[in-house]
Amino acid sequence: MSKTRILFVCLGNICRSPIAEGVFSHMAAQEGLAVQFAIDSAATGDWHTGEPPDARAQAAAALRGIDISRQRARPIRQTDFETFDHILAMDRANRSDLLRMAPQGLDYKVKLFLSFAPVLGVEEVPDPYFGGPEGFEHVLDLVEAASRELLTAVTTQSA
Ligand code: 4NP
Repeated sequence: MSKTRILFVCLGNICRSPIAEGVFSHMAAQEGLAVQFAIDSAATGDWHTGEPPDARAQAAAALRGIDISRQRARPIRQTDFETFDHILAMDRANRSDLLRMAPQGLDYKVKLFLSFAPVLGVEEVPDPYFGGPEGFEHVLDLVEAASRELLTAVTTQSA
């Protein structure tokens, strides 16, 4: 069986998308499903290329038992649109940037991450960069809930 390839994308790849990569990977591993997935994250901007996740993102993830310290930020590449099955944007701005970059015929792969969890009643994972630590807790809450739904959706699909 071929792996399901998922790319999480935000503006800087130092807050939201590294958290999503860490949470989803952790959840898949806990379910014994890690081998079924190739998970990565990327930025629509290139300001933070090569940097580890923001210290506040690392701390909030660590409080929930998830180590994201080894991740490094990278910008999205054109080849990502071929490589990945699902390219999941954290907010609408990320989604429009991705849709502008997507090669013709591959834009169907680009979706809002929270579209997998309509029960949450929100479409976007808000940018916590300019706020306090509670913003990161909120990101973790949204990402955990959406990751659970995404894991169910993609495992059911490939069953
Ligand atoms: P992220 O957060 O998109 O969740 O990684 C941000 C990180 C950096 C900046 C903005 C958002 N910035 O303006 O540098």
